[in-house]
Amino acid sequence: MDINKMMTPRLMSAAGFVSCGATVADVGTDHAYIPIWLVKNGVCPGAVAMDINQGPILRAEENIRKFGLETKIRTKLSDGLAALEPNEADTVVIAGMGGILINQILENAAHLYSSIKHYVLQPMTAIEETRKFLEQNGFFIQDECLAKEENKIYTIMSVVRGQMRIEKEIHYYIGEKLIENRDPLLSELLDGKMYELGRAIASLQFAKGEEAAQKQEWFLFLRNEMNKIKEACTLW
Ligand SMILES: C[S@@+](CC[C@H](N)C(=O)[O-])C[C@H]1O[C@@H](n2cnc3c(N)ncnc32)[C@H](O)[C@@H]1O
Repeated sequence: MDINKMMTPRLMSAAGFVSCGATVADVGTDHAYIPIWLVKNGVCPGAVAMDINQGPILRAEENIRKFGLETKIRTKLSDGLAALEPNEADTVVIAGMGGILINQILENAAHLYSSIKHYVLQPMTAIEETRKFLEQNGFFIQDECLAKEENKIYTIMSVVRGQMRIEKEIHYYIGEKLIENRDPLLSELLDGKMYELGRAIASLQFAKGEEAAQKQEWFLFLRNEMNKIKEACTLW
């Protein structure tokens, strides 16, 4: 098995945010490709591959064995970061989970905030909720990037402890760093999101009541804001 071939663009982008020399805890590791790639390529001296389910832990252990990395990557059955000891890792990767679950995992790990220096997060859904959580709980998004796999675009964030203020509502939905970085996939991300908003707006067209009207107004606002960013993208 060639680990480079197992690393999809999403996984590669998450691994790409990990600093050289970091000790990583990969939460919800499943196949353990991220820690295997990091250790195999000399980015990390060691890692902890964690998962809440026995099946993924067994899969991770099998893959770790295949690469002969049993002495460098240990596995832990754990709900989120519960089984991680302080100072066991300085970097946490949480990829391929919903944004709300990522928020819960981070909220339950307050006892590790002083020992973990860096978080790499890749929420599959509710990304705006993760950005809000980070802002309200003393986290700072230092960088973000996009990765594309089979027509889906994923957001990956590099996060540290610190104060952050997200001034504009639209930036909970479209990260400011993606705009600052002129991410090459931003325009495509916006197209997809504006299309989804258009469908939601159309579905509310004949709905009655205050709630439907408010929702429609909100979706129109978001689409308009996204369109402004899209227009800026076309000038880059
Ligand atoms: C879709 S897989 C993602 C695997 C890998 N991180 C990736 O990005 O490809 C989600 C994994 O998270 C695990 N998981 C779900 N809830 C969890 C929790 N609270 N704590 C730890 N692992 C969890 C699941 O068992 C599953 O293996």
